[in-house]
Amino acid sequence: MRVSMYYHLLLQFVVAIAISRSSCVVALDVGYYASTCPGAEATVRQAMEQQFYNDNTIAPALIRMLFHDCFVRGCDASVMIIPTAARSSERVAIPNQTLRGFNIIDRVKKVVEAACPGVVSCADTLALMARDSVVHLGGAEYDVPLGRRDGLQSNAWEVNLPAPFAPLDDVLAAFASKGFSAEETVVLLGGHTVGATHCAAFRYRLRNADDGTMDENLRRDMTAACGMSDMAPEDDPTEFLDPGTPFVVDNACFGQMMGNRSLLQVDQEAATHAITAGHVAYYAASPDAFLLRFSEVMAKLATVGVLEGDAGEVRKVCSAYNK
Ligand code: HEM
Repeated sequence: MRVSMYYHLLLQFVVAIAISRSSCVVALDVGYYASTCPGAEATVRQAMEQQFYNDNTIAPALIRMLFHDCFVRGCDASVMIIPTAARSSERVAIPNQTLRGFNIIDRVKKVVEAACPGVVSCADTLALMARDSVVHLGGAEYDVPLGRRDGLQSNAWEVNLPAPFAPLDDVLAAFASKGFSAEETVVLLGGHTVGATHCAAFRYRLRNADDGTMDENLRRDMTAACGMSDMAPEDDPTEFLDPGTPFVVDNACFGQMMGNRSLLQVDQEAATHAITAGHVAYYAASPDAFLLRFSEVMAKLATVGVLEGDAGEVRKVCSAYNK
């Protein structure tokens, strides 16, 4: 009797501990490094300004990097791991082969490490770098709650980012599975207001001369610029996604979508799809609303599936696990 009561009490104790641990929700917090590395944000921004001065084109690349990191295993810096002979990584998966800016992340992280060794995660560093990129390109300033941890897994086979030729229904489903509404998905596609694409991502559209979804003048110009034959990635030309203002976060890409002047099929389809067309038209007509929403939804993107508390680790070098 005594023994069974003892076990009963022990069980209650264990359950109580388990409940208290699981209800101890750790939330990202803007002041996360206030005591451990108070200058973290300023250090990242200063280091980024130096990098922008050297190469303006890295700002769009880092915005895209955040998307590719956060959509696979959450925002845990898993995209940054360099594969070894023994271990694959997301970096080798096809959509990630055109990512740029890994060297910039390593550089900025080195500066952060010098200020606060082993404190600021690579996932937080990228979230800040992407924010600073948006602001550098004229987007609205936004807060980045911090406290992400770096993941201990990175697998090429887990990279299931939508392809540029994926039907929009599939794209909407992929974004919905990460918690984004159709409106938020349209806002995020507005990321294509900056940066460039290789011709490989849309050359097949040039060949379908009568599919009626690309403006004829654009098709002619792009055929001249890209050629009709596939090329090795290093030889493949690149074209600006929003050629009028390729380094400004603005709503021009929505006007392009409505005028059949988007290079990527996914953007083009957003202008005519029953679920997204209204959002595209709204943002094409509302520059200020887009600027605000873009920053809000980028902040949300940076919270997808984050690791917190004592999960994962804080990497010293972003491209390799600590051990
Ligand atoms: C279905 C969703 C998406 C697809 C299929 C897609 C596809 C692509 C492709 C094919 C490129 C060109 C890559 C290259 O050839 O170098 C690109 C570039 C880019 N994407 Fe997306 N994208 C999507 C969503 C997003 C989101 C959510 C963002 C962020 C908000 C984003 C931001 C960018 C940026 C900034 C670039 C230019 C990168 C650079 O200049 O290096 N994309 N995207």
